[in-house]
Amino acid sequence: MGWLMGFEPTASWTTTRRSNQLSYSHHPKRLLNRRFCTINPYPGQPRSGVLRGTRAVMKTAANLDQLRSETAFAVLARATELAAQGRDIINLGIGQPDFKTPDHIVDAAIKALHDGHHGYTPAPGIPALREAVAANVLAHRGVEVSPEQVMIVPGGKMTMFFAILMFGQPGTEILYPNPGFPIYESMIGYTGAKPVPIALHEDKGFSFDADDVLANLNERTRLIILNSPANPTGGVIDDDALERLVEGLETWPDIAVLSDEIYSRLLYDHREHRSLLSFSAIRDRVILLDGWSKTYAMTGWRIGYGVWPRALVPMIDKLIVNANSCTNAATQYAALAALTGSQDCVDTMRRAFDERRSLIVELLNGLPGFRCQTPLGAFYAFPNIEGTGRTARELGHDLLEECGVATIHGTSFGAMGEGFLRFSYAASSDDIRTAVARIAEFLEHAQ
Ligand SMILES: Cc1ncc(COP(=O)(O)O)c(C=O)c1O
Repeated sequence: MGWLMGFEPTASWTTTRRSNQLSYSHHPKRLLNRRFCTINPYPGQPRSGVLRGTRAVMKTAANLDQLRSETAFAVLARATELAAQGRDIINLGIGQPDFKTPDHIVDAAIKALHDGHHGYTPAPGIPALREAVAANVLAHRGVEVSPEQVMIVPGGKMTMFFAILMFGQPGTEILYPNPGFPIYESMIGYTGAKPVPIALHEDKGFSFDADDVLANLNERTRLIILNSPANPTGGVIDDDALERLVEGLETWPDIAVLSDEIYSRLLYDHREHRSLLSFSAIRDRVILLDGWSKTYAMTGWRIGYGVWPRALVPMIDKLIVNANSCTNAATQYAALAALTGSQDCVDTMRRAFDERRSLIVELLNGLPGFRCQTPLGAFYAFPNIEGTGRTARELGHDLLEECGVATIHGTSFGAMGEGFLRFSYAASSDDIRTAVARIAEFLEHAQ
């Protein structure tokens, strides 16, 4: 990108980059030297730029430098490696239900394959599934949307990927929760937009101060990303903050909202989910992100959906056609069975998570140096570990290497996650007990 070559980024950076590529393309050494002067913002991640194979000299796009990864996958890889070496590992790192996908959903996929659903489907999804999603949105959020606004994609993540691509470019700003799902900040940086954090506060149940958020809006702001119930905190945006934010947004009609509600069915203590879509004042600029991964234990199937404002439907349709053509056909039939079949499986899983939630919060609060809020949703506990005297990264590393307990350090969810560790309690109660007992023993000897 322009600034890596010594130019300031401008609205026309693409043109600048092209001309730079032309002028530098015959001087790989010169380009390499310039690159060495730049600072990698994420040490340890592979650099873009000039990549050398045995004979090849490849020049990748500079904005790849802004892409980050998800620590949960790196921790999963390390945990798997340690387990393969014979270590007894308890994985409280990766955020996925420990249940199998319910049988009736699996059967629907098998049937779809036997019935010959092997080809492409319409890009935004099969009509029956789009209709079922619209009906589900009405049932669970009380909001009427047209099936035409429903876009089926390969995983909830794709809706955020497309939404951020749609609004981010150099010179613009996008607000995102911090600590928050790491892909928000990564993708915002990738587009060249400026990531502006929405600070989540432990003493507010990991909600935000709406006036602080509104104070960060300006004419460059294009998108606000919200996530409730939240990863990694398990927090839920409190009603007052939500209402105040929506009221403030009414004076900013050109700012879109991406509402990541992938954990909307995982709420505890009889809480009702409050969707951003239910606010009629901003409904025509809310992109709703949801899916099947967490609700129906379908993380590996790769399917999710977005409900898009009508005005954006032609653009998201084009992005889907360019990126993935359509979502796996059999998976769409499985997703249809999930929405139209019995919801007992959802209740059963939620009840199990709820029990484990009480267990893990109680146990973590008994650890020296730990302080854990009770999460209101999702399946994550996010204890404050400052009292241990270690950084989140150090403690996360030691717990995996020394005790065989995989967790995710808070800083992998943004700078404001320092002092916290994420525990996924989508694991058996026995595993949770053993993991915390190991940590207690480790902390006792480490004091
Ligand atoms: C907040 C949040 N949004 C979106 C996703 C992506 O979900 P999917 O696996 O369906 O892509 C995740 C996954 O962990 C998440 O935590």
